[in-house]
Amino acid sequence: MQVNVPFSPDQASSYAGQVDSLYAFLCLLTFVLGGLISIVIVYFEVKYRRKKEDEIPQAVEGSMRLEIVWTVIPFIISMGIFVWGASLYYAMYRPPAEALEIYVVAKQWMWKFQHLDGQREINELHIPVGRKVKVTMTTEDVIHSFYVPAFRLKMDVVPGKYSTLWFEATKPGRYHLFCAEYCGTSHSGMIGWVDVMEPSEYQAWLAGGAAEGSLASSGSKLFQQLACITCHRSDAQGRGPVLDGLFGKEVQLQDGSRLIVDESYLRESILNPRAKVVAGFQSIMPTFQGQVSEEQMLQLIAYIKSIGAKSPGGEPGAAAQPAGATGIKPPQQ
Ligand code: CUA
Repeated sequence: MQVNVPFSPDQASSYAGQVDSLYAFLCLLTFVLGGLISIVIVYFEVKYRRKKEDEIPQAVEGSMRLEIVWTVIPFIISMGIFVWGASLYYAMYRPPAEALEIYVVAKQWMWKFQHLDGQREINELHIPVGRKVKVTMTTEDVIHSFYVPAFRLKMDVVPGKYSTLWFEATKPGRYHLFCAEYCGTSHSGMIGWVDVMEPSEYQAWLAGGAAEGSLASSGSKLFQQLACITCHRSDAQGRGPVLDGLFGKEVQLQDGSRLIVDESYLRESILNPRAKVVAGFQSIMPTFQGQVSEEQMLQLIAYIKSIGAKSPGGEPGAAAQPAGATGIKPPQQ
């Protein structure tokens, strides 16, 4: 029997190689410095040992040159590590605008995935190779952590907020997904797979599912069921702000501060409407806490995003998603 124990997982994402280089550099630096220091310690122990009973050591004068050398070199090395690490971090944690969007809801003890076109999956995520993918995650209960070693990707999934990450898979295949935060009895069973497919296979896979319609169209139905539509009318005659074209825009709040409308702000406004009321409106919206599950929340948000670009005066690209005229049409691609 042959046992294959890989030194590290596959490098299957666009930045896996860079993460590995940084890690290899840190390991190398640790070994070199550690080794060097150990050798010098032993050498000095022998060289400067006490040779006679009554020996009195000479006084040591300081050396400015030496001081400067051992200050400047470590400074350059540590700043190098900082710049290298920070630039990689920025690249990894800023999702590009044109990415394919996937929504994740974690719960004890499973991963639930929603695709924009309406496909839902549990513990299995299908994505195309060579395409940037943005993942927006939240949890129904405790903290979990989304971990795909082959992508060098790990991010905490925290209750009450959205965390996002992005990656681009570079190699078709099946990769392990783990929960990397102890979350209760079956934490170790909270695992799954990421299936990276060729684009044509992925299209075929997409076409096979989605009986329920797109995420945005489910959100649109919910928007009517929950009667959001009675106040958030698109003709600006309602008691709440017009939501068309709102996503990604800046709004002014009652207290004069400004913010950009993103997923987290929409979520907060649905659950805790009084927190940040838009200037010119009254704080009359009831909370939907307990009435909207995390998955429905994502549907509502997908809907509000989908009615983004269409509004008059709204510049295209202000919203992340292509818009159907009413949001009922499933987004393209
Ligand atoms: Cu979820 Cu550990």
